[in-house]
Amino acid sequence: MTQEKEKIRLQKYIADCGVTSRRRAEVMISEGRVIVNGSVVIRQGVKINPIADQVMIDGKRVILDPTLAKKTLLLHKPLGYVTTMDDPQNRRLVKDLYADLNERLFPIGRLDINTSGLLLCTNDGELANQLMHPCYKFEKEYHITVAGLFSKNDLALLRCGVELEDGPAQPLKAEIKRSHSRQSVLTMVIREGRNRQVRRMMTALGFSVVALRRTRLAFLTLDGVKNGSWRWLQKAEVDRLRQMAL
Ligand code: URA
Repeated sequence: MTQEKEKIRLQKYIADCGVTSRRRAEVMISEGRVIVNGSVVIRQGVKINPIADQVMIDGKRVILDPTLAKKTLLLHKPLGYVTTMDDPQNRRLVKDLYADLNERLFPIGRLDINTSGLLLCTNDGELANQLMHPCYKFEKEYHITVAGLFSKNDLALLRCGVELEDGPAQPLKAEIKRSHSRQSVLTMVIREGRNRQVRRMMTALGFSVVALRRTRLAFLTLDGVKNGSWRWLQKAEVDRLRQMAL
C-alpha cells in the first residue's frame, strides 16, 4: 500500500516533471487536462505517488526525469543560523531561509553558527557525497578578520602550515588584505573541510577570529547573492561540479 508520506501534490509532480510551473499545472488540472490512473482529476490538492501512479496530460504520459527533480541552491548564509536540519536549542535554521520552497533541501557540509557565506543546499544525495567526500577536495575560500596585527611573519608561518590536534593543516593560498594593530583581514584558500578548521588554524597562530565568511566554493562565488538570500544552481554549474569530481 502507498505510504502517505511518499505522496506529493499533483501540481508539484507536474512541475517537477518539467512540464510547467505549479500555478500553470493547477490551471491544467482545473481545465480537465490531467488524468491520473485513467481518471480525470479536476479537484485541486490531490496527492499522488510519483512512482506508482500514472499521470497523463493532454493524452501524453508525464514521467519524472530524475535529473530535473534534483535541486541545488546557493545560499548566502547569514550569521546566527545553524546548518543542521533540526536544533534542540531552537536556534534559527538555514532551511528556514528557503522554507517557502517546500522542498527538503539539506546543506552540503557545515558552516558554524558564527560563520557567514556560501553554502550549497540540495536534495541530490549523490552531488552532496561528491562534494563532501575527502577524495575530491574542492577549493574553499574564506575572508577572515582576526583581532590584532597579523604580520608578514605570521603569514609566512601560516603558509608553512600549522599543527592541529587532528593533523597538520596548510592553506593552498593565504594573503593579507589589511593589517592594523586592532584588527587584520586576510583571505585563505583550503581544500579540506575539517571541523572549525579555519578558526583552529588561526588559534594555532595565536589569533582569535572576529569574523569569518566563506566567499567561494570551487568556481562558485557569492556574486549577486545578498546576505540571507539564495539562487538556484544552473544545470551547467551542477554538471561542472560533477565533472570536477571525476
Ligand atoms: N572553518 C571554520 O572554522 N568554521 C567554518 O564555519 C568553516 C570553516
